This record gives sequence, structure tokens and C-alpha cells, in this order.
Amino acid sequence: MVFLWIHLITWLVLLVVVSAALFTSNQKLSKINMMIARVGYLFAIGSGAMLVPYAYDEHPILTIVKVILAVALIGLIEMAFARKRRQTLNTRVALIIILLILIVGLFGIYLVKL
Ligand code: HEM
Repeated sequence: MVFLWIHLITWLVLLVVVSAALFTSNQKLSKINMMIARVGYLFAIGSGAMLVPYAYDEHPILTIVKVILAVALIGLIEMAFARKRRQTLNTRVALIIILLILIVGLFGIYLVKL
């Protein structure tokens, strides 16, 4: 299914561009990666919305949990971006964000395989 592939690839792209945006000390590079991440959200939300009906049929509760986690994750990434722009982001928060992207993605894969 094509939306599953789009969703999976978007996850990997987000992992790379959010890491780059949060960890680089080059402000211009950081800003470009933040913009790519925002396009990534649109792809994640668009493809995710197409996956929900199928997933919900099989595992309704876990699908709702997945969507809530994903929306919360996007909010947290944006909060980290705001801190990065104000130069008040510390490494621990940045690492937690990367860890959360990994967890949400792995939870998604678990949901697909279930
Ligand atoms: C930053 C946001 C997101 C990330 C990193 C993410 C990551 C993932 C990954 C890696 C998978 C497994 C895909 C595969 O194995 O091919 C997945 C599955 C899934 N995602 Fe997301 N996702 C995000 C946002 C969303 C959103 C916004 C929605 C709903 C609107 C959503 C709904 C789903 C559903 C329903 C599945 C399971 C599909 C199935 O069981 O067939 N995701 N997600």
C-alpha cells in the first residue's frame, strides 16, 4: 500500500531533518531543516489519515493512541524548534525529541505488524 510507504519514508526523513535542525549550530541550516520538517508533517498527517480507517478496523484503541502520540510529537518538535530559535534548547531536550520520534515510529511499525 502506497500510503504506508509514504508514511514510513516520511518518518525516516523527519528523523534526519529534525536531528539536523536541532543539533546544527548553523542557524540557516537549522531553519531550512525546520521548513523541511513542516512539509514532512503534512505528508505524515496526509498519509496517516489514509491509514487510519484500515488500522482502526483491526485495532481501534491502539490506532487512537498512535494518532494522539503522533499529534503530541508534532507539538513537542515545534516546541523544541522554538527553543532552538531562541537558543535556549539544551542537548537533553533535543535527545528526548529524537528518542520520541523513534518511539512513535516503532509503535507505528508494531501497529502495522500486529
Ligand atoms: C510525526 C508524525 C508521525 C510519525 C513519525 C509516524 C510514524 C509511523 C510509522 C513509522 C508507522 C509504520 C509505517 C510502516 O511500517 O510502513 C506508522 C503507522 C501508522 N501511523 Fe503514523 N506517524 C506519524 C503521524 C501520524 C498521523 C498524524 C496519523 C493519523 C492521522 C498516523 C497514523 C498512523 C496509522 C493509522 C498507522 C498504522 C497503519 C496500519 O496499521 O496499517 N501517523 N506511523
